[in-house]
Amino acid sequence: MTLKIQNICCIGAGYVGGPTMAVIAKNCPNIKVTVVDNNKERIDAWNSSDLSKLPIYEPGLDEIVKRCRGRNLSFSTQINENIASADMVFISVNTPTKTKGLGAGKASDLKWVEACARQVAINAKKHTIVVEKSTLPVRTAEVIKTILEDAQLSSATPYKNSTFEVLSNPEFLSEGSAIQDLEEPDRVLIGGDNEEAIEALSQIYKQWVPSKKILKTNIWSSELAKLTANAFLAQRISSINAIGALCEATGADVREVSRAIGSDSRIGSKFLDSGPGFGGSCFKKDILNLVYLSRYFGLPEVADFWEGVVFLNTWHQHRISELIVKKLFGTLSGKKIVVLGFAFKANTNDTRESAAIQICKDLLQEGALLFIHDPKVDSKQIEVDLERPQMNKSIKAGDLPSQSGEWKTISNLYDGLPNSDAILILTEWLEYSNINWEKVAKTMRRPAWVFDARSIINPSQVLQSGLKLWRVGDGSQVH
Ligand code: NAD
Ligand code: UDX
Repeated sequence: MTLKIQNICCIGAGYVGGPTMAVIAKNCPNIKVTVVDNNKERIDAWNSSDLSKLPIYEPGLDEIVKRCRGRNLSFSTQINENIASADMVFISVNTPTKTKGLGAGKASDLKWVEACARQVAINAKKHTIVVEKSTLPVRTAEVIKTILEDAQLSSATPYKNSTFEVLSNPEFLSEGSAIQDLEEPDRVLIGGDNEEAIEALSQIYKQWVPSKKILKTNIWSSELAKLTANAFLAQRISSINAIGALCEATGADVREVSRAIGSDSRIGSKFLDSGPGFGGSCFKKDILNLVYLSRYFGLPEVADFWEGVVFLNTWHQHRISELIVKKLFGTLSGKKIVVLGFAFKANTNDTRESAAIQICKDLLQEGALLFIHDPKVDSKQIEVDLERPQMNKSIKAGDLPSQSGEWKTISNLYDGLPNSDAILILTEWLEYSNINWEKVAKTMRRPAWVFDARSIINPSQVLQSGLKLWRVGDGSQVH
């Protein structure tokens, strides 16, 4: 017999919990879906009547929220009550890298996951399927199970007849295309050892995902598959960025190399774009977690192999900052650089681990004046990321610089251009590929550079307008 799920509670209203539950609510009108979070500000934003104020920007998300909110989708801070009435609880909270204690800098910090498991243990009133949606180290399900089951033995637990099953159901969505990824996933992965629980979760996805795309594995394989998928994807980016550096040194062009290798069906053409280095909340943290697990299980060679992917990424970001300094005559003091893009990729307002953070910090260290433009990122977020306030005085290129550089945001990219020395493209927003270079060139201070770390501009237009150009992985200037 299949358990019928009528009430879902998702703990964590973030980049994963919000969009995932919105898509479940849209495709399963008979299931009541409640997303809970202890961050009231975030929940208020999800409940905002102005859909442009949703806490997360994802193309198509506002439409679904508009359609489902108040029907079978709601957002709440009442965590205990919603756990109590749920048949299925998704844990979709953050699992960042630990900053202190055992495993600091590598292992995942599971304190939020553990807190959720304890809260479920105390508040669940009936048979509850607990689904790990967060990305977790292998064998975390064991920890969750232990917390849930042992709580039943405690005198502090009010409902003694609750029973639990734990499943792993990692999320593979990419930010910026989350809704499309959720609506048409390559696969849905469900790990577990209880057939009835697995079937109950499959039934939900079967409302819109073809059965053949629903993969069932044991729980440990499912947890490890998520870390492995991210590690493989990130590895491709470090590989192509490493080859890009070699292209710049030898006269080859990384775009041509990518096309040549990508047409080998064994390699495939996706995820071969050289850029400023991978960002996002997942790749670095998940690889470091894999590194930690490998060392923990006595496999230092495996750990070193994967750690190299992160090492290369950091090196590549510094390489870009250094080459900008070198091309601008070895000093950025008082030089004005217009930075286009701060998000870690286009179509998102997320800046977590964005390459822009490290590169801008490096340039500020050299005394640059940065005028930062991003169509979706809030200046308050940039302030947090750069760990310094934006300048409030009016300042022009050539003014005496402060020791540590200055930055401010601009809402129209053309506003930042007069007398600038360089433009640096860090995020591949569509509008940056349609810049009128002739118009731009007239306002910049010469010699003026365009540094295209995303390879999205038309090189001949830039060169014809009299600007100097560096493109990631382009060795065409080598003679
Ligand atoms: P997020 O930081 O955007 O959201 C997590 C939310 O959980 C926050 O709003 C936080 O307030 C809330 N929270 C934390 N502890 C809580 C508690 N005890 N009770 C109630 N609410 C609590 O994180 P995210 O990007 O959505 O990621 C969530 C998980 O999904 C992580 O494990 C991540 O690795 C994984 N993941 C993320 C992505 C992605 O693209 N962002 C993709 C796949 C998987
Ligand atoms: C990633 C995984 O793709 C997704 O499956 C997982 O669920 C979460 O982590 P996300 O971080 O949202 O998704 O974005 P992704 O598209 O993977 O890009 C990650 C970073 O790699 C970005 O900074 C992006 O600009 C960069 N990238 C991607 C490249 O530099 N080149 C590429 O060819 C692809």
